[in-house]
Amino acid sequence: MGSIWKMLGISGLVFTVLFLSLVCSSVRADVSYDDKAFIINGKRRILVSGSIHYPRSTPEMWPDLIQKAKDGGLDVIQTYVFWNGHEPSPGKYNFEGRFDLVKFIKLVHQSGLYVHLRIGPYVCAEWNFGGFPVWLKYVPGIEFRTDNQPFKVAMQRFVQKIVDMMKSESLFEPQGGPIIMSQIENEYGPVEWELGAAGKAYTAWAAKMAVGLDTGVPWIMCKQDTAPDPIIDTCNGFYCEGFRPNKPYKPKMWTEAWSGWYTQFGGPVPHRPAEDLAFSVARFVQNNGSFFNYYMYHGGTNFGRNAAGLFVATSYDYDAPIDEYGLLNEPKWGHLRDLHKAIKQSEAALVSSYPTVTWPGKNQEVHVFRSKSGACAAFLSNYDRTYPTKLTFRNIQYDLPPWSISILPDCKTEVYNTARISSMSSQAKMVPISGDLSWQSYNEQTPSADDSDTLAMDGLWEQINVTRDSSDYLWYLTEVGIASDEGFLKSGQWPLLTVMSAGHALHVFINGLLSGTVYGSLDSTKLTYGGNVDLRAGINKISLLSVAVGLPNAGMHYERWNTGVLGPVTLQGLNEGTRDLTKQRWSYKAGLKGESLSLDTVSGSSSVEWIEGLLLAQKQPLTWYKTTFDAPEGSDPLAIDMISMGKGEIWINGQSIGRHWPGYKAKGSCGECNYAGTFSEKKCQRGCDQPSQRWYHLPRSWLKSSGNLLVVFEEWGGDPTQISLVKRTT
Ligand code: GAL
Repeated sequence: MGSIWKMLGISGLVFTVLFLSLVCSSVRADVSYDDKAFIINGKRRILVSGSIHYPRSTPEMWPDLIQKAKDGGLDVIQTYVFWNGHEPSPGKYNFEGRFDLVKFIKLVHQSGLYVHLRIGPYVCAEWNFGGFPVWLKYVPGIEFRTDNQPFKVAMQRFVQKIVDMMKSESLFEPQGGPIIMSQIENEYGPVEWELGAAGKAYTAWAAKMAVGLDTGVPWIMCKQDTAPDPIIDTCNGFYCEGFRPNKPYKPKMWTEAWSGWYTQFGGPVPHRPAEDLAFSVARFVQNNGSFFNYYMYHGGTNFGRNAAGLFVATSYDYDAPIDEYGLLNEPKWGHLRDLHKAIKQSEAALVSSYPTVTWPGKNQEVHVFRSKSGACAAFLSNYDRTYPTKLTFRNIQYDLPPWSISILPDCKTEVYNTARISSMSSQAKMVPISGDLSWQSYNEQTPSADDSDTLAMDGLWEQINVTRDSSDYLWYLTEVGIASDEGFLKSGQWPLLTVMSAGHALHVFINGLLSGTVYGSLDSTKLTYGGNVDLRAGINKISLLSVAVGLPNAGMHYERWNTGVLGPVTLQGLNEGTRDLTKQRWSYKAGLKGESLSLDTVSGSSSVEWIEGLLLAQKQPLTWYKTTFDAPEGSDPLAIDMISMGKGEIWINGQSIGRHWPGYKAKGSCGECNYAGTFSEKKCQRGCDQPSQRWYHLPRSWLKSSGNLLVVFEEWGGDPTQISLVKRTT
């Protein structure tokens, strides 16, 4: 036989490898699991994972982010798949630019890391509509995430499409690719419980459908203790040490170890101390956990209109180990890297046995792992929240700070303690770049009910039903006739206009003049405008600009939640008493004039006449601003300081960098941050009474060397001359 291979030019060694790999792959899958851990190519592994969502950064940033994740000791990158980004209209797919999923996965592969692909397609994730395309809501008879045929058909089609795409690119591990696990659904457990029988049927269907796709790698359902075999149920939370999978033969996995939390406009900036995060991870591992994933490892930016409802901010920094701009968030990144090193040094013992647990003293706990071949690793804990302790283990005394765990990979040498930080901390700075921007302005006109491009209907219509989320903005326009003998015209006691809206923000114009602005709170997006309005005898124009700030991403049947002015709308204080405007004729105009003219683009912006110099609009509502600038030198990440502005959206060279809303100041409790204790997203908050988000990331890769067009649409009125470019440095 040797001579045949010689003739074919294949050496004996290569043949042996080929033969062995054929034999091996025919007798077992490359990725499987048991009660202890994931098994990759026959080896149980402790897997360190981190979430990086590909559309929350630019493809140019991906290689550096992945490298930093690798340097931080990660084995796996976890990402959701964002359906609404990939299928913006039915059957029209987009896998380009930030949505180039295959490219992202291939880059992770090239760096030698694995991928956990959370196909969902429900993702939650503070992403608009939880990742579902808005058109899905309008499929006849549909109900999301339940035993509903139209939904199941659409979901299966998308999941199948993604799996087929991954297979055709050979991206699953058994094909030689990096994907070692997938996820179907997301935190469906509580929803199933609420829905009862329909929820159970849907879970059974989703599990069967996913497993039937034959990816060759295990599936996961997070936060769902009903996950049917062979799907693994996993934990999400700030702490997961007490979690148990639903079957004794499944490994204990933590799909979302929250490294911080997301920011909302109107809320403070969450912070999770590195010590507590490290403590929670070490505690999980000593309690038998073998997979943990930082959600997020790099949060990034909610570019465009991708941020979800309830005022999720444009920054999705998350206080993650790599910050929004791609820089290391120290000491968190370094402290976790050191933790991962210590865990990896202990891996052989960790995957070989269940620990022996002892309690040598008050609030003290010792976990010892031993392998048959003699490896030994110990985790020593002090659960006291206030006092350090001296713990004696195998005749050696160890000093443990409060609320901390020490790791001894050889059962002797303490290489790491979760509360002792040895990496340097860094304070990221925003440094202004000199050079004033020279602005021009253009006023967005208030449309009239009789404009030819409006749509007239009786009564008030739900906003998304009209806009299909093509824009944040919907004008509700109507007219009110006032007789010349109305009493208020003489008395000057102006009638009270009341407008009830499901949210999320509202500007009220009377005869073209702004009469008030209201917006929802972080507890509820619902709002009510109430104001005395200056009406004249004759026909008066009432123009309501209703503004959506992202669609909901979570909650029972959130597809049924409403946006916009649904009424009642009333006028009180007329001769007749109260006039109800709710059911009268209203005209609708979706989007802004500036949007339809594409003012954010180079060609579009030249279609109108802009004003500059002394006439530049300042502190005027509904104003477009534009300027051009050359790319600043160097490679530091860039941002725009929007402190002088109120609310709106920003574009660079036609790309939306997201909504700005520095006018919404943070309400929260920015008290003392004592990490030793059970952490929640309400603890350790920062930036109270400041704008929730002042700086907006301007990706370098969206800039040309010169003549970059920066466009801002401002709803409230601001001073653009104070807007500045800054660079982020540490
Ligand atoms: C989880 C969810 C994630 C994300 C997170 C909060 O419950 O699975 O997608 O929304 O909460 O950031």
